[in-house]
Amino acid sequence: MGADLERVLITEEEIHAKLDELAGKIWADYEGKDLLLVGVLKGAVMVMADLMRALPGTAPMDWMAISSYGSGTKSSGVVRILKDLDADITARHVLIVEDIVDSGLTLSWIKSNLESRNAASVEICTLLRKPEAAKVEVDVKYVGFDIPNEFVVGYGLDYAEKYRNLRVVGTLAPHVYS
Ligand code: XMP
Ligand code: MG
Repeated sequence: MGADLERVLITEEEIHAKLDELAGKIWADYEGKDLLLVGVLKGAVMVMADLMRALPGTAPMDWMAISSYGSGTKSSGVVRILKDLDADITARHVLIVEDIVDSGLTLSWIKSNLESRNAASVEICTLLRKPEAAKVEVDVKYVGFDIPNEFVVGYGLDYAEKYRNLRVVGTLAPHVYS
């Protein structure tokens, strides 16, 4: 499986160091507030697991599943809720936990959807951000790494549901696509 990677962009150690740093900032920013971590399935599972364990204290999590990508590598622009939150977020401080912001279409849709439920606040934490994200009006409060505009897999990110279990983030070798 490692042979399917062309290049490692971010190592396991770099990911963990960054999530520790973000967790410290988040904990300080939300001190005394009713914080709810909202993960976006499935890509954010690894980020959620490591980010929440890096928090100096405890916070609950909830999950949403959205469809915006098919099994390929291009955004369809279509956003649909496949699984909604279990929790009522009225008056709560929601932090959306994501793997990657690319066009930002998915996140801006999720953010306004959650804001419309009268949350006290809705912010975003993403491990990765691509350059395209700069073009849209989506305010991302916590960003792990800015990466080049290449399709990446690993650490929750998939290609046709594969490679989510890789501990690093990297690009796929061309032979995988053909
Ligand atoms: P948008 O364009 O709406 O897309 O910001 C966000 C979602 O698109 C997926 N995505 C990727 N998935 N490698 C992946 O495995 C990538 O390089 C990539 N770029 C975008 C991802 O599901 C993300 O939540
Ligand atoms: Mg995702």
